[in-house]
Amino acid sequence: MCGVFGYLGQSGQAAREVLAGLQRLEYRGYDSAGLCVVDADHHTRVIRAVGKVNNLRVKTDSMDFSSFSTGIGHTRWATHGGITEANCHPHTSQSGRFVVIHNGIIENYADLKAELIAKWYTFQSETDTEVTVQLFEDMFDGDYQSTMTRLVQRMHGAYGLVFIDRDNSWVLFGTKKWSPMVLGFGTDARYISSDYRSLIGLIDDYIILEDGDIFQITSDNYQILSEGHLADRTRQIVDESEKIAELGDFPNFMLKEVFEQPRVLEDVFRGRIDFSSYSLHSDTLAHIATLGIKRITVVASGTSYHSGLLGKYYLEELAGIPVDVVVSTEFKYKKKFVTPDELYIFVSQSGETIDTLDSLKIVKEQGGHVFGIVNVPGSAISRAAGQGLFTRAGTEVGVASTKAFVTQVACFLFLALYLGQKNGLDYRKYREIIDGISKLPEAISTLLLQNEAIKQVAEKYAHSHNFFYLGRAHELVIAMEWSLKLKELAYIHSEAYSSGELKHGSIALIDAEFPSLMINWGGILSPKNASSAEEIRARGGKVVWIIAKWDTNKHIYADTIEFDSLISELNPFLEVVILQLWAYHIANSLGRDVDKPRNLAKSVTVE
Ligand code: M6R
Repeated sequence: MCGVFGYLGQSGQAAREVLAGLQRLEYRGYDSAGLCVVDADHHTRVIRAVGKVNNLRVKTDSMDFSSFSTGIGHTRWATHGGITEANCHPHTSQSGRFVVIHNGIIENYADLKAELIAKWYTFQSETDTEVTVQLFEDMFDGDYQSTMTRLVQRMHGAYGLVFIDRDNSWVLFGTKKWSPMVLGFGTDARYISSDYRSLIGLIDDYIILEDGDIFQITSDNYQILSEGHLADRTRQIVDESEKIAELGDFPNFMLKEVFEQPRVLEDVFRGRIDFSSYSLHSDTLAHIATLGIKRITVVASGTSYHSGLLGKYYLEELAGIPVDVVVSTEFKYKKKFVTPDELYIFVSQSGETIDTLDSLKIVKEQGGHVFGIVNVPGSAISRAAGQGLFTRAGTEVGVASTKAFVTQVACFLFLALYLGQKNGLDYRKYREIIDGISKLPEAISTLLLQNEAIKQVAEKYAHSHNFFYLGRAHELVIAMEWSLKLKELAYIHSEAYSSGELKHGSIALIDAEFPSLMINWGGILSPKNASSAEEIRARGGKVVWIIAKWDTNKHIYADTIEFDSLISELNPFLEVVILQLWAYHIANSLGRDVDKPRNLAKSVTVE
């Protein structure tokens, strides 16, 4: 959450580069944006704007930045203090000499602020961040790194901090703990960013900073201190095959990413499943299979948590291994019983989610086997896990997770098949699933042709204020995932429920204005779902049925969205696509910003 970006390079380029960097980091928070530039004559300019980066761009459009060679910028996801210009970053010290941007939360900011106020410092904002720059100025001893060393001893919490000094335009400095930060090295410029991918195309190589690092960069030198000593961090070469995601002909990234799912489902299995010989290949899983794993715990948040719930279904059904799935925020603080025959799987698209990362570190410290299912290579969770499966979904820009979810589920299915073949999974079932996986991309492509039909049904319900999403067994997980998406994208209240549980209380909510979506591919629980639909209908409720084409009960539903069902294990991949489009079209018809829904950010790096 929050994006920090720094540039040190050519005269006249700082504002342009910082604005471009902020645009690429906007997914990390879009409540407000701001920048500060400095020139060799000790002029600084701080410009801030509430709202998206474009508002800042408009504000700076007619300004002259020709003398500025160094700059920092910030995109904010508000934690402390409302969404106002005064609370926008950067924040400036009392004298105006130091300016800071920050990603994270300073937990003891109130105590530090009280201490500074007692010394006659005055504050312009309600933020926790402002204390860092005031305290830095108060402690400054003429040396950035020694002052920073003492500053970090005073701060509790998470931070990625970048400072600029009005009196020295040739330097940027800062520190990080828990919040991600990279230093990038280009031909004529140096960069600092929350995300390596924001620097692709600008740099040749980069350093991923570690927690506790205190850095100082100039145009021809850099220095990183770790625990008081010079640290020799590896400079990594940019992977030229990585590209910045572009929209192409799509109106937004969400729709583009939904339509990329047939391709990413090919990528996630490439080299892992040989469809002609029915063999599975993974050195990591070959190692995991030797550990004698008897239990698995999955730890994740949000959509990644839902993929873990589907993972539980696969691992229990196919590999016969009992699985617990716990949300990271709860797992982190609960009592743990780490044993050598248990595997802990941490799932994260971004690889940055702070509660998932912290949970992983705790299990690792206790000697547990850890495993990551992560989309972003080089991210904190992938590095801390050390082993796992990359989901290979490519950059996911839309805040709502779509293609990352299906590839996470695909990784769980692959893991379950791998462990299942060692644990006595019926070979016919094993082959049936592998055959089904080979047809999955084509099946999803066919389903995507129904986009317009799904839109028409979805828009009929766009003005409802509440929804039930109903299902049984693993389809309940799909219901949970898409209930989350409807809230996230359309700002409409919805609840996921086991259709069988409805009559134990919640059916009291049903009336003509409270529609239900029933997800059912037609398996053995189909008659039970049909009974639940009848019960809803009897009380004046409407049921939209996401249903296999051959189902015969259509007369009892207000509307149906039909699909060619596959085998039970693979239907979630299809059902989720229907519900992605359902939520997308409702949100779109209500004029929501589907790529950047309100109040959210793509990666959650604060508790
Ligand atoms: O990056 P992660 O997968 O760790 O993120 C976890 C959740 O914050 C994320 O899945 C969130 O729920 C999505 N915005 C949902 O679409």
